[in-house]
Amino acid sequence: MAENLSVKHLLGIKHLTLDDIQLIFKTADHFKEVINRPIKKIPSLRDITIVNLFFENSTRTRISFELAERRLSADIINFSASQSSVSKGETLIDTVKNILAMKVDMVVMRHPNPGAAVFLSKHINASIVNAGDGAHEHPTQALLDAYTIREKYGDVKGKKIAIIGDVLHSRVALSNIFCLNKLGAEVTVCGPATLIPQYIQELGVKVNHNLKETLNWCDVAMLLRIQLERQGVNFIPSLREYAMTFGVNLDTLNKIERPITIMHPGPINRGVELSSDAADSKHSLILTQVENGVAIRMAIIYLLAGNITISNFS
Ligand code: NCD
Repeated sequence: MAENLSVKHLLGIKHLTLDDIQLIFKTADHFKEVINRPIKKIPSLRDITIVNLFFENSTRTRISFELAERRLSADIINFSASQSSVSKGETLIDTVKNILAMKVDMVVMRHPNPGAAVFLSKHINASIVNAGDGAHEHPTQALLDAYTIREKYGDVKGKKIAIIGDVLHSRVALSNIFCLNKLGAEVTVCGPATLIPQYIQELGVKVNHNLKETLNWCDVAMLLRIQLERQGVNFIPSLREYAMTFGVNLDTLNKIERPITIMHPGPINRGVELSSDAADSKHSLILTQVENGVAIRMAIIYLLAGNITISNFS
């Protein structure tokens, strides 16, 4: 297996090779052991400074990145668009170039515009980690999801994964489709026709609009939140109707012939895509996903920073 990533940035799963993904998982195995030690901090990135640029709200992803960076002993700066000169009309490139002039090595960015991370990578020298760009990609989420499946089942290859809900507006869905396909899983997307993009089969997935059939087919069901903030028009008649047709509860899970696992990237809309009794049941890997998120982000930052230190001194 390769010792370094083939990329300088993590912009999307699309840009990663299978070797890159396996290297990230192997490195995360080590960091998962580290974060379960009484002393969780290691000095690896003492010389690296990272800025977390969040132009969109976030709880889990932001805290997870920050913890991963702190566990690696990096220096960090946190930036929220609402408290910055962005609200005075500064451009993205100006904002980032000014931050980098203060000798920052890596940028972790969440942005509402699809392609924002790729755009930035063409204008700056620092390594960029895409923490979610609009409805496009959310690569660290897909990696932590696949890592969680690998941990539970030993391998992702050959597993049947259903992605259920608002696939149309979900960066988690797209990154997961790319990642699970690369790892050899079978993927079916499920949801109302208005929330499943036309021609999505061209990405190598199947479509099934029947929830019961989909749940009976899969090993793992990934539930997605309805992204109301990204919808200009109504794609579903009401949340109540959505919950009745595509919501998963414990009763639905108990009626499936064999045990399945449920996952969710969070935040959960309890009572819409997932009921509380299902979210908190033994079927759920939701909090394991969150735990694994720190190890996966430590692995990515560590591997990208390895490229920085090498190129700085060569
Ligand atoms: C997701 C996101 O922001 O894309 N959440 C996350 O990163 N944990 C999914 C969502 O917002 O529904």
